[in-house]
Amino acid sequence: MLSETQIALVQKSFTRAVPRAEVLMIRFYERLFELAPETRSLFPEDMQAQRANVVSTLATVVRSLANLEPLLADIRALGMRHTGYGVKDEHYAIVGEALVWSLEETLRPAWNDATADAWAEAYRILADVMIEAAHGRSNDGRN
Ligand code: HEM
Repeated sequence: MLSETQIALVQKSFTRAVPRAEVLMIRFYERLFELAPETRSLFPEDMQAQRANVVSTLATVVRSLANLEPLLADIRALGMRHTGYGVKDEHYAIVGEALVWSLEETLRPAWNDATADAWAEAYRILADVMIEAAHGRSNDGRN
């Protein structure tokens, strides 16, 4: 569960990251492929469209953190599509680590532990909904 303070930290930091979204995403995938090289082959050669897709999904989710309910069906469908991409449950934690790392790299020095924790929690909520959906289960994105 995210507190109001945590929601504000995620939203404020994401707003600051948006003008640097391209470099954020380049760093994110570089880090992911360093941490989990086996995931590189799941993605297309040209990552341009992928980077843009992920930023726009993140923007939608970040904007809606106070009430994810209207987005849950889309997030579940996204989780189910990820099974088709060859994504495994264990990849989610690594992607979360790469995301928080790349945000810190991009936003430093405007970064602190509370912001990192808020992002980790927001990502965990999102990832849990996707993972549960990939297994044919549903949760309400609150846990
Ligand atoms: C919160 C977590 C995640 C979000 C928001 C997210 C978002 C997205 C989006 C928006 C797409 C575009 C295609 C579509 O809409 O179906 C996509 C594709 C993809 N994602 Fe994710 N993703 C997440 C987690 C992961 C994880 C953990 C992996 C594991 C490595 C992963 C690997 C992929 C791959 C391989 C594709 C397909 C690329 C292609 O063939 O074009 N994603 N993701």
